[in-house]
Amino acid sequence: MKKRIYFNEVVTRDGFQIEPTFIPTPEKVALINALSGCGYAKIEVTSFTSPKAIPMLRDAEVVMGEIERYPGVVYTVLVPNLRGAERALEANADELNLVMSTSETHNRANLRMTQEDSFAALSDVIRFVDGKRPITVSLSTCFGCPMVGDVPAASVVAWAKRFADLGVNGLTICDTTGMAHPDQVKQLIEALQLALSETPLTLHFHNTRGMGLANVLAAAQSGIDRFDGSLGGLGGCPYAPGASGNICSEDAINMLAMMGYETGIDLSRLLPIARALPGLVGHDVPGQLVKAGLTTDLHPAPIQD
Ligand code: COA
Ligand code: ZN
Repeated sequence: MKKRIYFNEVVTRDGFQIEPTFIPTPEKVALINALSGCGYAKIEVTSFTSPKAIPMLRDAEVVMGEIERYPGVVYTVLVPNLRGAERALEANADELNLVMSTSETHNRANLRMTQEDSFAALSDVIRFVDGKRPITVSLSTCFGCPMVGDVPAASVVAWAKRFADLGVNGLTICDTTGMAHPDQVKQLIEALQLALSETPLTLHFHNTRGMGLANVLAAAQSGIDRFDGSLGGLGGCPYAPGASGNICSEDAINMLAMMGYETGIDLSRLLPIARALPGLVGHDVPGQLVKAGLTTDLHPAPIQD
């Protein structure tokens, strides 16, 4: 039997949050509706953050209210605090994805709080949501912080364990600025799997140093079946110096599908959407598959005399 992979598309959240030009709300809604028809397990639609901090996503309520909800797709949203959780429930999000950083310095830059204050605030959010919606927690900078360097695997495991003990439904292990390499990925996953036997893990990679797909492969070979990715390879955290794009969804999905994994995603539907992305954001995007085509798209041989 083919191994199933569950893919979460984050382009309209991680992708758009760092774009210099506001993407009009109807275009966000149309993009999410198109993506919904491609077979994703999950779509991270937007974030309920402060509109001053992330002005690109200031239309979160409208977007959540106007998208079509396809059966079988989980529509999740990023939430940094209690105010965000209230807004997410009001907007009827299927799942809340809370966020804090495993680096104290990045946590203060991104969320303007100490890690302990974030943990206390997110614990309040979990109590407030009280099982009404599934909750996942995204832990940023798990493979290194762009401001302080190494983040010890032991502290990533310790933060993960504290949230697992609160009963969260999943943890996302984020390589916020693409500092991971494949051996490190295997080692951290092994340590997390030993410490947390029950909590599903999602891996979230950025391709900042060109190791994104290598890290996806290392994670898949370590038994991970959930990945975040961003259409075209857009993305990045505005509060992490040097941040650049996520792994490109269609490139990762194509790699996994070619290797025999069952992604559930119809690339023939996804590729035209990816092809239209540069027009939407007004610049070229890093994705390779759209430029090269599928390996089954053959070229005519040169005519020989
Ligand atoms: N939604 C909407 N508004 C919010 C909010 C939320 N979730 N949280 C705070 N605010 C508003 C407050 O109402 C306040 O507004 P005012 O200035 O008009 O009174 C203002 O933001 C400041 O509130 P405060 O509680 O002091 O928050 P802060 O300025 O310390 O910001 C965060 C904290 C976490 C809300 C903010 O830094 C943030 O949203 N960061 C975004 C992080 C992010 O998404 N990073 C990228 C992805 S990892
Ligand atoms: Zn990210």
